[in-house]
Amino acid sequence: MTTERSFVFFHMLNVPLALPNGTILSNRFAKSATSECLADRTGAPSAGLAALYRRFAEGGASLLITGNVMVDAVHLENPRAVVARADASDAFRSWADGAHEGGAAIVMQISHAGRQTPRMLTAVPVAPSAIEAVHVLKSFGAPRALAPSEIEEIRDAFVRAAVLAHETGFDGVQLHAAHGYLLSTFMSPKTNLRTDQWGGPRENRARLLLDVMTSIRARLPRSFLLSVKLNSTDFDYDGGLEDVSWLVRELDVRGLDLLEVSGGTYENPVLFSGESSAVRESTRRREAYFLDFAASIPRGSFRLMVTGGFRTPEFMNEALTSEATDVIGLARPLIVNPDFPRDVLRGKKAPAESFAGLATRSKGLGSLAVNAWHVAQLHRMARNENPNPRISTAWAIATYLILSALCAAAIRMGARRVLSAPLLTERTDAIG
Ligand SMILES: Cc1cc2nc3c(=O)[nH]c(=O)nc-3n(C[C@H](O)[C@H](O)[C@H](O)COP(=O)(O)O)c2cc1C
Repeated sequence: MTTERSFVFFHMLNVPLALPNGTILSNRFAKSATSECLADRTGAPSAGLAALYRRFAEGGASLLITGNVMVDAVHLENPRAVVARADASDAFRSWADGAHEGGAAIVMQISHAGRQTPRMLTAVPVAPSAIEAVHVLKSFGAPRALAPSEIEEIRDAFVRAAVLAHETGFDGVQLHAAHGYLLSTFMSPKTNLRTDQWGGPRENRARLLLDVMTSIRARLPRSFLLSVKLNSTDFDYDGGLEDVSWLVRELDVRGLDLLEVSGGTYENPVLFSGESSAVRESTRRREAYFLDFAASIPRGSFRLMVTGGFRTPEFMNEALTSEATDVIGLARPLIVNPDFPRDVLRGKKAPAESFAGLATRSKGLGSLAVNAWHVAQLHRMARNENPNPRISTAWAIATYLILSALCAAAIRMGARRVLSAPLLTERTDAIG
């Protein structure tokens, strides 16, 4: 009886969804991308990724988007990030198999870190223009502008990564054009000051993203899912809303299947807090920081996924019922409890649990704490252990920084990675 009532109440979360490429999502829960820091010492996916994604799939989300897979072996988002290495196809196949065995579709997020390549990997990252460094905990150097031939090489590297994803059994790819990474910095006139065919009018600023999209569609079958992640913060400039509306229409005509909308960059990490002028007070008080932004985007043949701040099943259902979004994107809640979708679909109404964060005025330190703590949980699941909400934040930050520094040093010395997953047993908080 209770189950039946709950099912009726949450019925939209349970309604299957067909994407234009033919993929049918069995429910409306998707795991948003989460950088796992689980590459092996060569940059290939480690075996833990298959276990981790099997675990997420068993938890009930119908679609899993991987963390950044880097299209360039130098400009990594973090030293332990997976690189799209064509010679590691068996490892990629096992990763995709892990998700499929658990019953979910899996999409590989492909990315170039651009000016957010950490200083420990390169003193001079690359970007559309030689603008100032990203100022977060002195982690990044000032970038140099890419040469046109390098931009073409990056475009081709994205396409090669998509081909690798297709050949190794992933259902699709997501182009990471959000959060201040390379593709998003090309789009924004604040970070793209170029005067050649890659900068200036929006047609030029969008050229890299659109060319990648067109080339992938030309190379791979229509059944291959193509997704793009966009960022509300990146369009926070005069004319930004017109630009994003135009861009979305251009993506739509090129065969976009799933548009994910979130927000925030390292410099303005609203993705973890919801604090931005682009986020109305009313929205912040509710949940889902970026629904207002999503509402201003034109709809097309693609399906929309909104990510950032969803916590209660009631509000998720409301967002679906009002057609504010087609898919509910979740990252932190699924890391704390990968079974959240299954629990909700079985009638539980409890809100998603989340990490309390760190009491600090420093946005950079706050983001580091969020990242490090969740990465520690991802590593537990990769070892077939359950998440442990009592993991100490200080321990997670220390481990994250030490392992990142060791791996970065190994990469710089040409030895690639020496360590992948943490080899240490976690410290837990005394209370909690
Ligand atoms: C540990 C961690 C790693 C993340 N890695 C990525 C990533 O690789 N690519 C990406 O687009 N977003 C990444 N994100 C952002 C999430 O996809 C999501 O947009 C954000 O956490 C807000 O959603 P939430 O409120 O459900 O957590 C990451 C978030 C966390 C917590």
